[in-house]
Amino acid sequence: MNEQDARKQAVAKAALAYVEDDSIVGVGTGSTADFFIDALAGIKGRIAGAVASSEKTAARLQQHGIRVVELNSVSELTVYVDGADEITEHMAMIKGGGGALTREKIVAAVAQRFVCIADASKLVPVLGKFPLPVEVIPMAQSYVGRQMVKLGGMPRLRQGFSTDNGNLIIDVHGLSIVDPVALESRINNIAGVVTVGLFAQRPADVLLLGGAEGVRTLRRA
Ligand code: A5P
Repeated sequence: MNEQDARKQAVAKAALAYVEDDSIVGVGTGSTADFFIDALAGIKGRIAGAVASSEKTAARLQQHGIRVVELNSVSELTVYVDGADEITEHMAMIKGGGGALTREKIVAAVAQRFVCIADASKLVPVLGKFPLPVEVIPMAQSYVGRQMVKLGGMPRLRQGFSTDNGNLIIDVHGLSIVDPVALESRINNIAGVVTVGLFAQRPADVLLLGGAEGVRTLRRA
């Protein structure tokens, strides 16, 4: 296992401390979340089940024998554990590199606590170097693309990709996101946008960051 994967695995294991006995756990998507699913398998007898943020995550949970529960049959989730493509010290994130941003945002909205697990390369001073994913209804692709240009970005359609919801992803390059809360509202208000991959209005509550010195815990002020 390479160094970066070892860090992802370390933060994934550390996130188990936030999982309460007999609870339903919200589970994210991506390579770091995959390490969390593998860790969760080790304590599966202690939890009631999991809500998945993507079909891929649901399949991995099931392979481990973890019960997957529909979000609509759950009234509360104590914790949601997921990775990020970028995160600031204020806990605002870019997510959606894996294309699961809409379901991730929904499950995160239900959870009382968002625990972000990431290797140290994900911590940035300003969001935007990682292209911002925007999930769009197919017929709105060109219109939304033009709106992204007006915001100063360079939109690129993610080729050959369709989300779990049957939509497209536009990756917006070249943005320097100084006010992620405002930009999240602005992009979400564009007709045809399903979800923008900015998680600033509901940021992470805890960041478990894996670096050379081990796992650091940062909390939202
Ligand atoms: C999935 O859609 C994303 O939001 C992921 O959470 C994000 O891309 C992080 O993925 P990695 O853990 O693979 O870097």
